[in-house]
Amino acid sequence: MSRHSEAPRRITAPDIRARKGGDPIVCLTAYTAPMAEILDDHCDLLLVGDSLGMVVHGLPSTVGVTMEMMILHGQAVMRTAKKAMVVVDMPFGSYEASPELAYANAARILKETGAQAVKVEAGATVAPTVKFLVDRGIPVMSHVGLLPQAVNIDGKFKAKGRDEAERAAILEAARASDEAGAFAIVVEGVDETLAPEITAAVKAPTIGIGASADCDGQILVVDDMLGLFGWTPKFVRRYANLKDEIDKAASGYAADVRARRFPAAAETYSLSKARQARVAQGDKRG
Ligand code: KIV
Repeated sequence: MSRHSEAPRRITAPDIRARKGGDPIVCLTAYTAPMAEILDDHCDLLLVGDSLGMVVHGLPSTVGVTMEMMILHGQAVMRTAKKAMVVVDMPFGSYEASPELAYANAARILKETGAQAVKVEAGATVAPTVKFLVDRGIPVMSHVGLLPQAVNIDGKFKAKGRDEAERAAILEAARASDEAGAFAIVVEGVDETLAPEITAAVKAPTIGIGASADCDGQILVVDDMLGLFGWTPKFVRRYANLKDEIDKAASGYAADVRARRFPAAAETYSLSKARQARVAQGDKRG
């Protein structure tokens, strides 16, 4: 096969960047191969978010997420997502200490998963790291506003932009990562008047979550919008109620097993009958 084969062309970082001010960019998180296969048809960008620590692994926050977890889930998503751009989150502790550490870990993520970019939670102090990575061939999505990896500083997950100082710091972080070359900027959990201000101030497209419809795109944690949890954050719209569906399915299965209604004849193998038929036709091997 040629190096430039006919496989469907995957959306790239420059494609996403070129969507600034255009048609809204559709993004969701994805953590597994079957889910990525379903979402790929509908999304421009799939994020292997470190939210997987909480959503898939039951951790209390994203702080405990490791490089190995991100790589394993990144590989799973890359096996089935063929069209959407795939971005993998850099976990807490993998990029903050120095640009060199960030480069080593980001390069490992790209090499071992095949994903096209990484995302970092970016206060203004992380901007030099964004530039270091971009200058060395690693596309970076930055993330401003509510930074889940800083939960131990904030004490809890809380929306940002309550006062002028907080708004200015978030705007500055967005501007700094824009100037550093981020190809897109996630804006999470901010006052709804701040997101349009950020969107107007930066060249990179903004991707809102709990932000405003006036961003260049939107992202949600897929398990939230599918209704896999009993509790839904304010900024999530539920498009399904999978928790109830799974509950109903598991309850039906349990009842059938207990009553010996499952499996039925159609759900078992009749191998012995096939053997009998072959023996009847004189095939001694059975
Ligand atoms: O980890 C994640 O899922 C994210 C999104 C919420 C943007 O960072």
